[in-house]
Amino acid sequence: MAQRTILVADDDSSIRSLLKQLLSDEGYAVVEATTGTEVVEKVKDSNPDLVIMDVRMPELDGIEALSKLKVSSPKTSVLIMTAFGSSNNAIRAMELGAFDYITKPFELDKISHTVKRVIEYRDLTSEVQVLRDEISSLVQTERIVGNSAAMQEVYKTIGKVAKADATVLITGESGTGKELVAEALHYNSNRRSGPIVKVSCAALPETLLEAELFGHEKGSFTGAQAQRRGRFELADKGTIFLDEIGEMSLPMQTKLLRVLQDRKIERVGSSLPIKVDIRIICATNKDLQRQVEAQKFRDDLFYRLNVININMPPLRERKEDIPALVEHFLAKHRYSATAQPAAISEEALKRLMEYEWPGNVRELENVIERAVVLSRGQIITSRELPFGDHEGDHEEEGEDVSVEKSYFKKSVAQFEKDLIMKALRDANGNRSKAAEMLGIYRRLLYAKIKEYALEGYPPKGRAA
Ligand SMILES: Nc1ncnc2c1ncn2[C@@H]1O[C@H](COP(=O)(O)OP(=O)(O)OP(=O)(O)O)[C@@H](O)[C@H]1O
Ligand SMILES: [Mg+2]
Repeated sequence: MAQRTILVADDDSSIRSLLKQLLSDEGYAVVEATTGTEVVEKVKDSNPDLVIMDVRMPELDGIEALSKLKVSSPKTSVLIMTAFGSSNNAIRAMELGAFDYITKPFELDKISHTVKRVIEYRDLTSEVQVLRDEISSLVQTERIVGNSAAMQEVYKTIGKVAKADATVLITGESGTGKELVAEALHYNSNRRSGPIVKVSCAALPETLLEAELFGHEKGSFTGAQAQRRGRFELADKGTIFLDEIGEMSLPMQTKLLRVLQDRKIERVGSSLPIKVDIRIICATNKDLQRQVEAQKFRDDLFYRLNVININMPPLRERKEDIPALVEHFLAKHRYSATAQPAAISEEALKRLMEYEWPGNVRELENVIERAVVLSRGQIITSRELPFGDHEGDHEEEGEDVSVEKSYFKKSVAQFEKDLIMKALRDANGNRSKAAEMLGIYRRLLYAKIKEYALEGYPPKGRAA
């Protein structure tokens, strides 16, 4: 693998040589800079993978240099070094798109660990970019997002079988997008101008499900006050999507098998067969083969349904799809109808990439939707993400170690911190006034300022 270049910028020569020593030992090429202006120039010349830069530097400070870099060299990752306790700089750095920040004094182990993670993350995302470029020429169903190899297989199968009237069984864990695939099959088929009718086989008790699917004649059972057409009839010339087929009772399975064989149905309370022209798509998150072995699912029905199987890969096996999905959901779930899509910090995205997603894409969508609300449409950082409990957190979050890590408590703390910051801004940094505006004792405000490391807030010149 090609040697990576890291630019180290600090006006303090002892810090520079310390970092240079460490990083060269680990096999990186190191370029040095002493001012923000120099950083911007040298990044253009040497195109480093990573810039590690102090906040305080002559001419252009680290924050200003960072905002310039994000325009001139947006692909360069940046780590910012801040003095311990200056959380404003850290927050500002993250808002401007720094990968992470390191507080001084730092431990060498932590630096080398963080650098390694930046490089790994860059490798992963650049592979995704290549893949994405390759695939963009291929046909893709509009609303299904993700270009991983596993998803490309899914698209290929959809493309091959959509036009055929063959029955399709879509399998996969909950939240992997089975229903989306069913829709894609329908809208890419010759039946697209007909209806797609969806029925969840788990939602209704057996007798109601039967009436729902087959319809009924007036008076055929208690409550059947009028004649009613069933879902099979309503799906005529279109597609019927039988969701959670693994939950269907054995007697209903027998009836479904008859529909598959004859393409005819009879309403409950009638013996008049009605021809239906339907395509059947089923989905389940159960292992139907196992259900067959346990005699909970008819094997003859299984073989008829499983003519074509599309198995949806779990999200944890295609993490390279996460950035595109995040982007998709940020655009879908805006803070308000007129708001621009929120942005996400590199560090928060990294968290999303690390998580295992037991609830798959649905869980990711929920997490993004909540984060948009919690960040009020501003840049999403890991503070708005619900995984505060895993190890390494304390080490990584530096200044926030005193805040408890449950999702609820974190959200409340974030809200409290925002309120305090706003009051401090509105009061131009006058703490007595801020306490009065908040309706709390000054002593409590002082304690909170300490807890949230807001000592220097608002920075001079930036007060509202
Ligand atoms: N690849 C994807 N691209 C965009 N959105 C997706 C994708 N996969 C899933 N989603 C979204 O995630 C949510 C869950 O998807 P869907 O309902 O299709 O899952 P499912 O496999 O049917 O889950 P379950 O088994 O729990 O019913 C939906 O809002 C869907 O739009
Ligand atoms: Mg579903």
